[in-house]
Amino acid sequence: MKAVQINNYGGVEVLEINGNVQTPNSSSDRILIEVYAAGINPIDWKVRAGYLRDLVPLTFPATLGGDFSGVVVWSGGDAVDFKVGDNVYGQGGLLNGGSGAFAESLAAETSKIAKMPKNLDFLSAASLPLAGVSAVQALEDHIKLGKDQKILIHGGAGGIGHIAVQLAKSKGANVATTVSSRDMDFAKSLGADEVIDYKREVFENLLKGFDSVFDTVGGEITNRSFQVLKAGGIIVSMAQKPDGELAKKYKVRAIGQQTEGTPQRLNRLAELVDNGLIKVHIDKVFALDQVKEAFAHLEKGHARGKVVLKIK
Ligand SMILES: NC(=O)c1ccc[n+]([C@@H]2O[C@H](COP(=O)([O-])OP(=O)(O)OC[C@H]3O[C@@H](n4cnc5c(N)ncnc54)[C@H](OP(=O)(O)O)[C@@H]3O)[C@@H](O)[C@H]2O)c1
Repeated sequence: MKAVQINNYGGVEVLEINGNVQTPNSSSDRILIEVYAAGINPIDWKVRAGYLRDLVPLTFPATLGGDFSGVVVWSGGDAVDFKVGDNVYGQGGLLNGGSGAFAESLAAETSKIAKMPKNLDFLSAASLPLAGVSAVQALEDHIKLGKDQKILIHGGAGGIGHIAVQLAKSKGANVATTVSSRDMDFAKSLGADEVIDYKREVFENLLKGFDSVFDTVGGEITNRSFQVLKAGGIIVSMAQKPDGELAKKYKVRAIGQQTEGTPQRLNRLAELVDNGLIKVHIDKVFALDQVKEAFAHLEKGHARGKVVLKIK
């Protein structure tokens, strides 16, 4: 089968498209899936660059890719929830016990996948898992966002941010979001009540007394966000563990989230999509053979929503 692999860490130049990779082994709790599409996330280039090598050292050649959608071609043993022919989606990357999603076939752990949303195409489904689960975990499990609460979402046009804005609006929250100038109309179309141009405006001067902040950007943005919160509020950051001293000073809870794509969260995401509460926006689709262009596109920034590889 064909797969995108690396033989050492580095830039886009280390990406290889290999045509004679062995179909991965399945087992009682790893089912075999024919991959139709695979979403690309910032973590994919961080893995490729070697930033996570201490956490999860790769054995080369390593097949890249996590988010996928596809069809089950072999299911046995413990995989009672899935049968051959099911449309599934989830996380099939090496970091999650899978064989890598940028490939024509994938073995994925049953604890990292779920049935695809019913009325969604494969490209959209492959774009959802990590970004969608990140938003669900932050807003529902950590923040427990409720009606009329005020939330600031940083990076509201990005992969995670654009899902989070829609999820927050579906709960009746009052949503402010930071985006670049070119994404202001897009963020409004997602339902955001207040859209702030992060390059021209200072968000902490405009927003006060917020119940929560969901930060998908990190760095100084995380620290500055404390000023927006009221006492008893909460900040969840995707990019780093927020400063504990600042949390004490502002009397708020601060969480650095590690996203976990459980079947429960993937099923919840599918329910939100099936109920029309969340739509994934695809910025650009690339063929598997164009994987270098796809990574370069994502890494230069300014993608609106998601970048995805069409594999079948
Ligand atoms: N901890 C975990 O488990 C976990 C899981 C998933 C993702 N992550 C991390 O979460 C982060 C976001 O992921 P993603 O997939 O949403 O990335 P993304 O699609 O690249 O989105 C990031 C967004 O942030 C915007 N942005 C950049 N600087 C900003 C600023 N100063 N103020 C407001 N917005 C700004 C970008 O806009 P422009 O490009 O137009 O500037 C972009 O739309 C990444 O660092 C990723 O690695 C962590």
